[in-house]
Amino acid sequence: MVNVVVVQNDPVFGNVSGNLEAVSRMLSERQVPRPDLIVLSELFASGYQFVSVSEVKELSEKVSGPDAGPTGSFMKNLSRETKGLVVGGFPCQKDGRVTNAAAVFKNGELLTVYDKVHLFDAENRWFSPGEGPLCLVDTDFGPMGVMICFDWLFPEVARSLALSGALLIAHPANWVLPFGPSGMILRSVENRIFTLTANRVGTESRGGLSPLTYIGQSQVVAPSGEVLARAPRETAAILEVSFDPARARNKTVASESDAFRQRRPALYHL
Ligand code: ACM
Repeated sequence: MVNVVVVQNDPVFGNVSGNLEAVSRMLSERQVPRPDLIVLSELFASGYQFVSVSEVKELSEKVSGPDAGPTGSFMKNLSRETKGLVVGGFPCQKDGRVTNAAAVFKNGELLTVYDKVHLFDAENRWFSPGEGPLCLVDTDFGPMGVMICFDWLFPEVARSLALSGALLIAHPANWVLPFGPSGMILRSVENRIFTLTANRVGTESRGGLSPLTYIGQSQVVAPSGEVLARAPRETAAILEVSFDPARARNKTVASESDAFRQRRPALYHL
């Protein structure tokens, strides 16, 4: 069994230290002191609604090394404290560009950084898209995929990760569209995997852009589509769930139906 914690926070744009403190306070209420995995939301400490490239650059961070920023240091320390995995989103400085990224730390070590491949809406103005590869991490409990928010709408991402062996997908998000939670149930069902989405709540209305209201409903979904836990729409919350990731090795849908063996890739081209 793995013990996972999904954090649904309510960040204030640009108040990185205040937002990290708030997440720390939320996590201090967890029941399991050493969860195997903590999933934090997309851009969980910076906030989401940027209004200029210079603002993105100003809030972007390096995730490791001597000039690592506060968000990377926070995740590193948290993973050292829990001796487990921590996945969370941040604006990542990369060779003069900024990507909308998620870092994966384990027990104080950076394992990898994934750059969001499918940028949503105004993100295309501020961030450089990730160029891959998709993110599959070997963990003590089996392969884990990582994708970020809008990546969910492209079923190829979760499918590719699942076909590569992912038993679960950690999914930092800042959902604003209403169909994210039900969409992710489908990603679980069609791939017979666990999905863990950490969304946020609150509204941002900045720089003349249309206001964004984040829809909460962070969730953990089983391979059967059962929602094991779901957070409220409007308030910050943590979810604590235990499950056996090995269940995702079984791709059976019905006694004579198998979600993977029955695929017909030769027909999947127009
Ligand atoms: C999103 O990709 N943050 C909607």
